[in-house]
Amino acid sequence: MVVKTHLKRTVRILLLGDGGVGKTSLILSLVSEEFPENVPSKAEEITIPADVTPEQVPTNIVDFSSAEQSDMELNEQIRRASVVCIVYAVDDDDSIDRISSYWMPLIRQNYPDSQCPVVLVGNKIDLVEYSTIDGIYEIMEEFSEIETCIECSAKTLKNISEMFYYAQKAVLHPTSPIYSVERAD
Ligand code: GTP
Repeated sequence: MVVKTHLKRTVRILLLGDGGVGKTSLILSLVSEEFPENVPSKAEEITIPADVTPEQVPTNIVDFSSAEQSDMELNEQIRRASVVCIVYAVDDDDSIDRISSYWMPLIRQNYPDSQCPVVLVGNKIDLVEYSTIDGIYEIMEEFSEIETCIECSAKTLKNISEMFYYAQKAVLHPTSPIYSVERAD
């Protein structure tokens, strides 16, 4: 009989998404529990020790800035990630369109033989009175590696810790198969 044991490893969460959607603000809001009025273009890599994460697994959170980093670095970071959070701004339709036209194809290119779990994160919910989730479900149907989606606000801190918990969960308890034999791209 083969018994599978759950191996604890470091979870590496990479935040991607168009410029200005709030990636750096989300990371700084999580760490300082307040909204940063002045944001640098990129947050330093952050390590959260196992004992303060809900899943008890050491977690690194990695920001990406197209202003500071090259495409080569972007591809390298995607390949090192255990999960990618694609951040969009709920008040910016272009940032939503680019999930399927740019970010998901880019992630897939870097995982030709496997899948990298993805969480879609709709930031800036404080700015609108509506939800973007219905449109997001359509994107989730197109890409099976998208584990879940969440709307949040770095400004009001709504759903910030939940967002990082969902990302951890997508790695530790994925619902989609890691290897896909059906993908034809
Ligand atoms: P790049 O470095 O260009 O990739 O941007 P980024 O995705 O890291 O966004 P950043 O955190 O720099 O935020 C861009 C702007 O959006 C800043 O002016 C933030 O103050 C603002 N912002 C970020 N999150 C929120 C939010 O939840 N609500 C509101 N109202 N503004 C936000």
